[in-house]
Amino acid sequence: MHNDALDRLTDYPFDRLRALLGPHAPAAGRREIHMQIGEPRHAPPDFLAAILARYPADWGKYPPANGTPELRAAIAAWCARRFAVPASLVEPERHVALVAGTREALFMAALLTVPRQKRGRRPVVLMPNPFYQVYAGAAALAGAEAVLVPATAATGFQPDFTSLPDDVLDRAAFAYLNSPSNPQGAVADLARLEAALTLARRHDFVLGADECYSEIYTAAPPAGALEAAAALPAGAEGDRLANLLVFHSLSKRSSVPGLRSGFVVGEAALIRRFLRLRQYGGAQVPLPVMHASAALWGDEVHVEANRGLYRAKFAAALGILDGACGAARPGGAFYLWLDVGDSEDAALRLWRDAAVRVLPGAYLARTGADGVNPGARYIRCALIHDLETTVEAATRLRAVLAG
Ligand SMILES: Cc1ncc(COP(=O)(O)O)c(C=O)c1O
Repeated sequence: MHNDALDRLTDYPFDRLRALLGPHAPAAGRREIHMQIGEPRHAPPDFLAAILARYPADWGKYPPANGTPELRAAIAAWCARRFAVPASLVEPERHVALVAGTREALFMAALLTVPRQKRGRRPVVLMPNPFYQVYAGAAALAGAEAVLVPATAATGFQPDFTSLPDDVLDRAAFAYLNSPSNPQGAVADLARLEAALTLARRHDFVLGADECYSEIYTAAPPAGALEAAAALPAGAEGDRLANLLVFHSLSKRSSVPGLRSGFVVGEAALIRRFLRLRQYGGAQVPLPVMHASAALWGDEVHVEANRGLYRAKFAAALGILDGACGAARPGGAFYLWLDVGDSEDAALRLWRDAAVRVLPGAYLARTGADGVNPGARYIRCALIHDLETTVEAATRLRAVLAG
């Protein structure tokens, strides 16, 4: 006996990659370079370990369900600073939910928002294509129909929800918008964010802005959905954050994917219900991690240093690739999204000929109504290693892909 919705999910991309490369040995005599996973490897700031060690007794306590007042205040203050919005927009006691990383929160957001029926019909969850795979799992387990909206070169690698027919928008319960996006690193500008939030309010669905890469950029900080909310009139019940949930994480910003710490800010009534849902099924963030998280959200020095390392690596890699496969610095995040023609074939060749492991874009997207899988031409390469390894990886990528 099991939930058969699970059978309808595709295998996770890393399992599919293992199946593709498993039968093949990597190029002999070469150090393997793994670029398939977006797992930051830079050192976190020194103060992190010191704070975690400072509160040994707290490991013996069940953590408060929604964090400490200090942490909620640090999160609200960061939101106001980073997005230059009024401090009153995000109230620590009404608009903030602490989460153990945003992956689980993004999954639960569909369970939170998708009703059994919307206007007497099956609800829809909108998402970009390609997309972070958790979105599809969440839609399926929530019982919704997933509507994949192309995020291709033609649309600036972001989905255009405004292009959807009213019939679909009226059935929408939740929409995932990821900026900067995984895998392409595309940024949704303020106009696009405003249009998406306006659409959500008009058609009565919730916009979920997944912004976990917002601090990894080259020049201008990417706009955030909170800026859109601040620029628009208040929504239902006078809530400036009506119809909105925004997801942020320390994983990429502070290079601590193992800490499992993030937050959701949004409409007060939704946050209240989200906390109720988490009381029943959410993982808690341990107290020492809450103390460390408050310090991390309060510090920008280590974040700027982190950005600097990615800038240097992109500059070096792009210099070596010299435009091969359309290589370019995206607006945000830390991925190279290379147009290789056939993503599985390129991943296989890179492994067999150069011991470089990358993720085929085909595994991050689904074939659309037009019969095209918008990821099938691309590979995703995460620039997570040190500069020297990145230079070596870019040299091998170029030799195999453009040699
Ligand atoms: C687009 C996107 N959203 C969310 C996450 C989840 O990050 P975390 O659970 O570490 O906060 C990831 C992780 O890779 C991601 O790529």
